[in-house]
Amino acid sequence: MEKIKLAIEKAKADRNQLAGAATRTSVQLTAPQIIQDRPHFSSSDLKQIVLDRDHLEDNRIITFDRSDPKGASFDMLRTQISQRMGENGWQTLAITSPRSGCGKTVTAINLAFSVARHTDRSAILVDLDLRKPSVAKCLGINVEKSLVDYLQGTAELHDILVCPDVERLTLLVNNRSIKNASEVITSRILLDMIAQLRKFDPSGILIFDLPPMLSTDDVLAFFPQVDCTLLLVASGYSTISEVESCERYMQSTNYLGVVLNKFEGTQEEYY
Ligand SMILES: Nc1ncnc2c1ncn2[C@@H]1O[C@H](COP(=O)(O)OP(=O)(O)O)[C@@H](O)[C@H]1O
Ligand SMILES: [Mg+2]
Repeated sequence: MEKIKLAIEKAKADRNQLAGAATRTSVQLTAPQIIQDRPHFSSSDLKQIVLDRDHLEDNRIITFDRSDPKGASFDMLRTQISQRMGENGWQTLAITSPRSGCGKTVTAINLAFSVARHTDRSAILVDLDLRKPSVAKCLGINVEKSLVDYLQGTAELHDILVCPDVERLTLLVNNRSIKNASEVITSRILLDMIAQLRKFDPSGILIFDLPPMLSTDDVLAFFPQVDCTLLLVASGYSTISEVESCERYMQSTNYLGVVLNKFEGTQEEYY
């Protein structure tokens, strides 16, 4: 009992230390011993929200509507990814790109919708682009408490998880950017949160919307925490050498492959 109390106190101290992070450029993070019990809450305890369909469509979130033929490419992507993940017992997927603007957030959201709507697995989408969080904006949702509050110790995990009106989908968004993102992305508190999310829904897929790879070393530092990775590149924007650099780094991960986004070639209408 005494050991558990000590560990909880250590974890709280770590969170309080992070609380000052927003105003400082660097924070000395300790490595507390954290108890990783299964979270004591269920989906029905989480904040429920209704998504605005028009906002989604305006922001290229198309997998919401099953009848939209444009969703076919996401369905193919989802099938391939969920098969590979299922075969290997993988639970976490990281999506990154060489630079920002390639479409990571749009793809991560569409993929999460597609998994939740078309498979028997649930999806949890986590905004881990700590410097430039944009999942909430893209979905048109306004949350009072988000990831940064959890990291600062002013919210619990069940305060920041949100259930939209899409069955089997849970969102963990962030409404403020974090200055010392490099440290936070590998901090004990964030890694513990991921462990908690894994336990919250052991059969679900956790999708992380990560920062771009070539701007900082955040993504490289985070890779050991994920089961598999996906590289998103944008047609007419990402260069061959950028893609090659990213792929070199990603060979040390369970690399699922590269997805070409923003391609403007022709597409078959029906097949
Ligand atoms: N397939 C696509 N076709 C056209 N525009 C796209 C596509 N995917 C994303 N976009 C747009 O590109 C911009 C950047 O997308 P975003 O997902 O925010 O990129 P990232 O997260 O990689 O920075 C957004 O305006 C988004 O709507
Ligand atoms: Mg983004």
